[in-house]
Amino acid sequence: MKILVVSRCLFLMLILCLLVLLPFSDEKGCYYALDLGGTNFRVMRVKLQGNRTIDLKTESYKVPPNIKVGKLHELFDYIAEKICHVIETETDSEIVPGKKRELGFTFSFPVQQTRINSGTLINWTKDYNVQDAIGKDMVKELTRALEKRAVDVNVTALLNDTVGALAGGRFYDSNVVAAVVLGTGTNAAYLEQSENILKPYGPPPESGQMVINTEWGNFNSPLLPLTEYDHALDSDSPNRHKQILEKMVSGRYLGEIVRRILERLADDAALFGDIIPPKLRQHYVLATYNVVEMHSDKSTELSVVEKCLEEVFEISDVSLEKKNVVVKICDIVATRSGRLGAAAIMAILKRLRKDTTKNGESVVVAVDGSLFETYKQLNSCLQKTLSEELVDEQVSKMLLLKHFKDASGIGAAVVAASHSIYT
Ligand code: BGC
Repeated sequence: MKILVVSRCLFLMLILCLLVLLPFSDEKGCYYALDLGGTNFRVMRVKLQGNRTIDLKTESYKVPPNIKVGKLHELFDYIAEKICHVIETETDSEIVPGKKRELGFTFSFPVQQTRINSGTLINWTKDYNVQDAIGKDMVKELTRALEKRAVDVNVTALLNDTVGALAGGRFYDSNVVAAVVLGTGTNAAYLEQSENILKPYGPPPESGQMVINTEWGNFNSPLLPLTEYDHALDSDSPNRHKQILEKMVSGRYLGEIVRRILERLADDAALFGDIIPPKLRQHYVLATYNVVEMHSDKSTELSVVEKCLEEVFEISDVSLEKKNVVVKICDIVATRSGRLGAAAIMAILKRLRKDTTKNGESVVVAVDGSLFETYKQLNSCLQKTLSEELVDEQVSKMLLLKHFKDASGIGAAVVAASHSIYT
């Protein structure tokens, strides 16, 4: 795959920008953060203690599948209920009399945003398809749901998870220049000099930096080598012709790509015998964590692969040779994802090169997301591609991909603090 060409082409695609006050790391106080759009939905209470120290309480929830495709008020009622549960656990020291609680809302979907505390949904991605939501202000909807429950919360900041990860990364390390999310979906944000920004909504500030949310998951180009499996996956998806790069790279889709390849091999080459197991035809039945497990199977008889084929597809008595084919497919799909992820990161580094390498300081890219955290082989393929094929020697020496756990949620709380209505 022509990784360098893909990277050059990605470099031309930058879309959503916003002026966000990034944290200075000395913020203090108790803030809430809400993180919606990844594997889990999380509510956090973040006590900022100054000097880059925090005390964090996190509650994670699974958003029920019916809510992800239900009505908008049901989604926000569900979220408000969970926020209330966390608020109920507040201690007296966390309540400031006469002040509303403040919340940073990490909303991991494309949003049209011209102010820090409002933004309208452009379209859903991943497995969300809530009705009547496009064009609605997500902050208003959340505020309405919280008001119904009579809780005193001001939604101070709305931000993409990549913007949250950038803020969270910089809270700990001021050399962070970009943030990447490799999870259920994929995307990146970086800091751009304001004078380079052509902004359709009015003039950008004359100096300083602005945060660009690239929404790179929506990248598409004739240069992307799409296979028949990618075309079929896209055409069966609720967001056809959108998020093409994301559909090749991110955790929502890798399991499904592997399943489609196995189905084809079962049909054309009787991989699992003459009768096709019905479960093999079921879309999204194979999750990406199954792929991670199978790919990491070190046992001589590939017993993890065997167990997974049995549990997910109800396929048994598979020979060692065939189990090896399954592992090989996982490897091919993960390698493609890692290499494309590297190309996308390279596009941002190229954009930043002249600004970042001049001081000789390290260039830190904050990375967050379940795929990056859990898929070791994919993660090392991404890093190897970056250092061996893409990044020139000078940048390579200074480049650091750093995992900041929960960066996007922590970032949401610190951005809420920087934009507090009380300062
Ligand atoms: C969304 C992005 C988000 C990314 C990672 C994509 O599907 O469009 O806004 O940042 O997922 O969560």
